Amino acid sequence: FNVPPAKNEPVVDYSPGTPEREALQKKYKELYNGHIEVPMYIGSEEVKTGDTHELTPPHDHKHVIGKYHRGNKEHVQKAVDSALAAKSKWERMSWEHRVSIFLKAADLISGPYRAEMNAATMLAQSKNAYQSEIDAVAEIIDFLRFNADYMTQLYREQPYSPKDTWNRMEFRPLEGFVFAITPFNFTAIAGNLPSAPAMAGNTVVWKPADSQIYSAQLVMRIFKEAGLPDGVINLIYVDGPDAGDVVFDHEDFAGLHFTGSTKVFKHLWKTIGSNIDKYKSYPRIVGETGGKDFIVAHPSAETQTQAIATAIIRGAFEFQGQKCSAASRCYFPSNFWPQLKDELLNDMKTLKIGAPDDFSNFINAVIDRPAFDKISGYIDKAKESKDAEIIAGGNYDDSKGYFIEPTVILTTDPHFVTMEEEIFGPVVTIYVYDEKEKWSDVLKMVDETSPYALTGAVFSQDRYAIQEATEALTHSAGNFYINDKPTGSVVGQQPFGGARGSGTNDKAGAKLNMLRWMSARSIKENF
Ligand code: NAD
Ligand code: ALA
Repeated sequence: FNVPPAKNEPVVDYSPGTPEREALQKKYKELYNGHIEVPMYIGSEEVKTGDTHELTPPHDHKHVIGKYHRGNKEHVQKAVDSALAAKSKWERMSWEHRVSIFLKAADLISGPYRAEMNAATMLAQSKNAYQSEIDAVAEIIDFLRFNADYMTQLYREQPYSPKDTWNRMEFRPLEGFVFAITPFNFTAIAGNLPSAPAMAGNTVVWKPADSQIYSAQLVMRIFKEAGLPDGVINLIYVDGPDAGDVVFDHEDFAGLHFTGSTKVFKHLWKTIGSNIDKYKSYPRIVGETGGKDFIVAHPSAETQTQAIATAIIRGAFEFQGQKCSAASRCYFPSNFWPQLKDELLNDMKTLKIGAPDDFSNFINAVIDRPAFDKISGYIDKAKESKDAEIIAGGNYDDSKGYFIEPTVILTTDPHFVTMEEEIFGPVVTIYVYDEKEKWSDVLKMVDETSPYALTGAVFSQDRYAIQEATEALTHSAGNFYINDKPTGSVVGQQPFGGARGSGTNDKAGAKLNMLRWMSARSIKENF
């Protein structure tokens, strides 16, 4: 039995005058003017606690688009109970049947829900239509379809059986429930973190970031419409520590599927470690966390200045730099920096800032007030420092929405604070090295500057320089790009994830990840 081989979902380009663009604009308006009431989904219940909180778009923070019902520890306990109650039936269901539910969800997103998924992410996470299409439509569909395909491949990988014996591997789900914690910045990650373990037969408690609730509840409704049985995924909106107190104290806690900051992940890992004697099994811990992603160019890249300028703009500023993969520290040689600087600053003049309903806006708002304060704080540090100069952008305004200009900092100190710390905003820092410096010393500096190892890019026209970089930066990036920007991995093409402080590198949307949600049993039978 095989599921259809997965292919990447084609991306709609929303050109002016197309019916797709009109449908998306209409849906955005409808959601903007609507007032949705969002319940939690626990077992068969849509839970309305009465503890309601407003949902507001980051680019228009005084405008209310709905409210959600917030839960407490009691709801976390109910979600855990519900996941455990649903488990036996779900894990006994044939895997083909389980997978078909998620394949149907992918089709629903590709068809009738395409505009709504895109519009919800534009509105609630302030993503432009093109970025939203890639995230909330194409990537989530790819996760669902490729993971289904990987299930087929994994189940087919069986051991050798000599004559008169049948050796087999049974890929069973984990014993217990899985806890999925998702970040604000990708609707696709929100869909993948609970669905990948669920596809493998696990039941899940899912806690999204508060600023992602609007799109998360839509994903949940689509899963339900596709036929997901009650209790397989339980969606709750609670404080992280409240959720942690209940989940990590439970003997049936079997796995954590996390994406978010390094600080929170380390805290969760320590909590799990300190509770290890309570659990029936060693919990699987999968976490994709922060990044301080680089672009480094070799002096031979002097003919590539336009491609590098584009890589900076797209790599550092798409979705306001709120990608774990976003380019945020660059190392360029002195021989072509003046030319690159001219091209970069010229291109940046064309970048428009504003709300995502105007499709010509490239930059929208950052997610919320804490993000706005944190990012503008880093810009202020650069303004105040003698080691740094702002050569583009640097302004910010939160009167209507949390808008921050795309900002380029030039520094004379390769260890300046904005070269080392994750900012998670539209800010990139550039250090210009002497073209005569040894390439190996430049690469050493790139490798040693940051505790993260998520993505990185090298630009060069010299084959040996590329080879040297690939070797010297072996552990500096889980996703390494040659002559391209360090963002925009595609499921099935560049499995995504980083090492060091950036995560357990289990590669979202890959066989490696699916295996973490299975506990195999070897069976030997003699005839
Ligand atoms: P965050 O760490 O603040 O929050 C992530 C999730 O953890 C949220 O749901 C949050 O509510 C929850 N949380 C926070 N404290 C908790 C606690 N004590 N117990 C349980 N849950 C808790 O991250 P964010 O701001 O939502 O997302 C941005 C971060 O995510 C960045 O650091 C970015 O690099 C990272 N990220 C990484 C990847 C990747 O694939 N490596 C992808 C996307 C985002
Ligand atoms: N997968 C996303 C990217 O590569 C985070 O940009």
